[in-house]
Amino acid sequence: MKTLVVYYSWSGTTEKAAKRIAKVTDGDLVKLEPEKAYPASYGMTALKSLVEQIIHARPKLKTTIPNLEQYDRILLGFPIWWYNCPMLVCSFLEQYDFSGKKVYGFCTHGGSGPSKSFAAMQKACKTGTVVECIDAGSLTEQKIREWL
Ligand SMILES: Cc1cc2nc3c(=O)[nH]c(=O)nc-3n(C[C@H](O)[C@H](O)[C@H](O)COP(=O)(O)O)c2cc1C
Repeated sequence: MKTLVVYYSWSGTTEKAAKRIAKVTDGDLVKLEPEKAYPASYGMTALKSLVEQIIHARPKLKTTIPNLEQYDRILLGFPIWWYNCPMLVCSFLEQYDFSGKKVYGFCTHGGSGPSKSFAAMQKACKTGTVVECIDAGSLTEQKIREWL
């Protein structure tokens, strides 16, 4: 079972979770970077991401994954933004072919939980199967194994 752990993280929390998950699953770790980085200021990022969600934007990705077909499962992590996944997660899910693969979402958040992110991922991923979007805030090794 070959695992890809791919994630976006604005302020580092999801990155920590992604690294832990990659270690437990022996997965390859890839950071998703948008072509245009989000601003360093919280206010500006909040505004930009809200507009993106309203207009269903699909920000372009700088990161490319040329060998996605070699993976059996994709673990996709992100912070919750405005009760949803960042729109670049949808860009990723629309851009690649996930045929025959399972996509497991994991998120970190400030209290609202995964909210609308699972539904948004399912909608954007036309080719593969999105299994779940779990709260990765307090994942132990045992919980990671149970999840998968
Ligand atoms: C623009 C923006 C919007 C956010 N919206 C939510 C939200 O709707 N619900 C929530 O619980 N947390 C929200 N948060 C908090 C983040 O989801 C949380 O701090 C997350 O762990 C950050 O992950 P990161 O460090 O990987 O970027 C928001 C943060 C930002 C920057």
